[in-house]
Amino acid sequence: MTYDFDTVIDRRGTGSVKWDLVDARFGTDGALPMWVADMDFRSPAPVVEALKKTAEHGFFGYATMLPAYYEAVIAWMKKRHGWSVQRDWICFSPGVVPALNLIVKAFTEPGDQVIVQSPVYHPFFALIERNGRRVLDNPLQLSNGRYQMDLSDLESKLTARARIMLLCSPHNPVGRVWSEQELKDLADLCLRHGLLVIADEIHHDLVYPGHAHTVFPTVREGLERCTIVCTAASKTFNLPGLHTSNVIIPEHRLRERFGEAAMRDKLGSPNPFGTAATEAAYRHGEQWLEEVLCYLSGNLDFVNRAAARVPGLKVIQPEGTYLVWLDLRQTGIPRGRLADFLCTEAKVAVEAGRHFGAKEDGFVRMNIACPRATLAEAWLRIERAVARPASSS
Ligand SMILES: Cc1ncc(COP(=O)(O)O)c(C=O)c1O
Repeated sequence: MTYDFDTVIDRRGTGSVKWDLVDARFGTDGALPMWVADMDFRSPAPVVEALKKTAEHGFFGYATMLPAYYEAVIAWMKKRHGWSVQRDWICFSPGVVPALNLIVKAFTEPGDQVIVQSPVYHPFFALIERNGRRVLDNPLQLSNGRYQMDLSDLESKLTARARIMLLCSPHNPVGRVWSEQELKDLADLCLRHGLLVIADEIHHDLVYPGHAHTVFPTVREGLERCTIVCTAASKTFNLPGLHTSNVIIPEHRLRERFGEAAMRDKLGSPNPFGTAATEAAYRHGEQWLEEVLCYLSGNLDFVNRAAARVPGLKVIQPEGTYLVWLDLRQTGIPRGRLADFLCTEAKVAVEAGRHFGAKEDGFVRMNIACPRATLAEAWLRIERAVARPASSS
């Protein structure tokens, strides 16, 4: 390996949401932050170099995306995802969530329904409901430790007010990398019912061996006319604080509508650091990505071995993302305390499943993108905390 992912680098006091807000958010003292989705790994060296170069130039005026930026995005999408993207399809957004928020507002009316598949990335619910739209939940089904879509449930619930399918692919928090066939079946339903699909593919590069991400609009003819794909280098290369994402809209009328809404709502313009970092990551970051994927696979193996020592704890095996969905329902932790147990007793700050719209108490999401030593400390804390009630009773 060229890159070192093992060294623990202190991020406290750097204004990191993950590290500096953890205790305030979870009401703990000294909790290990394994919640918000960023990595405790330094970004690739070429990204840091590009940022230094930008800083040293000393001009931080309003920025735009140059042809070289578009070329880098297009080449990445082609090479890593087999999708031929045209330059004018790429629209800027300072983040995927602001883009989703804008799209929901621009393409629906108050009272319209937006389909989500819970448990799912929690801002989806807020951006629908706070805009006066309604959530149409099509819960994923857990069977034999694996989540699946339930399209007959979805079809039976569809009303004339259902407008948008908000697809999370790969899926946060359950870690599914949807197969081509699953996406084809979903696509057929969306095409039959005239739904606009927003494919949030921000985790597209973070896929474990044996799985392959499929870009949604590539699975069926005609999907490019009704799909908006949201991507970024932010999850892949740990750049989310640079607020740069790419909203890819092949169909020109959809693009115009997005562009008008972006102007109206003042979505914002690119910043020189975000574009420099994204371009450098896509041009020179592939080696780092391969290595980080390998390290994450090792972390996942570690989690599986550690979890096997905690009676009743099940790991829902992620096929992608560095987020792991843990099932604590059989651990013997008293019901009603399941969600907060790891935070308050083990001092490991993980996200409670209920935030993702999980129907049942007892699931949490753990971020495993950290040095192995941090992961080991977290699992030691968990093992001890789970053993405590059993030994004291
Ligand atoms: C599925 C999904 N979409 C969007 C985001 C956040 O995107 P951004 O920071 O670009 O708004 C995340 C972050 O974890 C995510 O998991």
